[in-house]
Amino acid sequence: MLEVPADVRPGETIETHLGTEFTARELRGPDLFTHFERTGAPMLPRDVGLLLGETGVCEGDRVLDAGTGTGVLAAYLARAGAAVVTYEQDPEFAAVARENMALAGVDDRVDVRTGDLTASMADLDDRFDLLTLDTGDAAAIAAQAPDLLVPGGFLAVYSPFVEQTRDANLAAANAGLEDVTTMETIQREMDFDDRGSRPSTAPVGHTGYLTFGRRE
Ligand SMILES: C[S@@+](CC[C@H](N)C(=O)[O-])C[C@H]1O[C@@H](n2cnc3c(N)ncnc32)[C@H](O)[C@@H]1O
Repeated sequence: MLEVPADVRPGETIETHLGTEFTARELRGPDLFTHFERTGAPMLPRDVGLLLGETGVCEGDRVLDAGTGTGVLAAYLARAGAAVVTYEQDPEFAAVARENMALAGVDDRVDVRTGDLTASMADLDDRFDLLTLDTGDAAAIAAQAPDLLVPGGFLAVYSPFVEQTRDANLAAANAGLEDVTTMETIQREMDFDDRGSRPSTAPVGHTGYLTFGRRE
């Protein structure tokens, strides 16, 4: 990534020492994937979009998130206006995530805490509008969701594997959450060329499943 001098404004052109020209632009949500330092596998925009749409997260919401990983989801939530408390059990990953939040300009709205959320849940006094989980032990945390959420608050669990997804779905339902639903986003790009238009023949890649539930 090219370090842009502070006085360069979006739209202005700068030149590297090798004479290559770049036009500066404001970092926005999808740029986080290319500019963040990566640790834990980040959620893709299509899954983030489903999560934002299904939970309606907005300005003023309080979100509890785990694990932070790269912090892509946490940054998207903060850019939507939420205040995010996010737990990352790996101290090195947590340090990278803090730098990523600063790069995204949301370090004042994302509190990256080093620690295992399963071990810290009992210490949390706050209640949250949204609980987002992207961890192997999400089912165990989902089972405690009613104690972590405000009435009407949402749980959203992202899991790449169907076994973890089923566990999270059952844990959310057994905990008494309402409208427990699991979905997968299938996304197809369109190709337009001289011969005609059709969905891309490139393989459709699996990302993960999203399970939602809502506190009464
Ligand atoms: C797949 S990554 C999360 C990626 C993140 N959603 C994003 O969009 O960048 C999962 C992360 O969760 C962390 N983790 C797993 N279990 C955890 C727990 N119980 N508490 C806190 N962090 C946890 C792992 O260390 C890993 O960095």
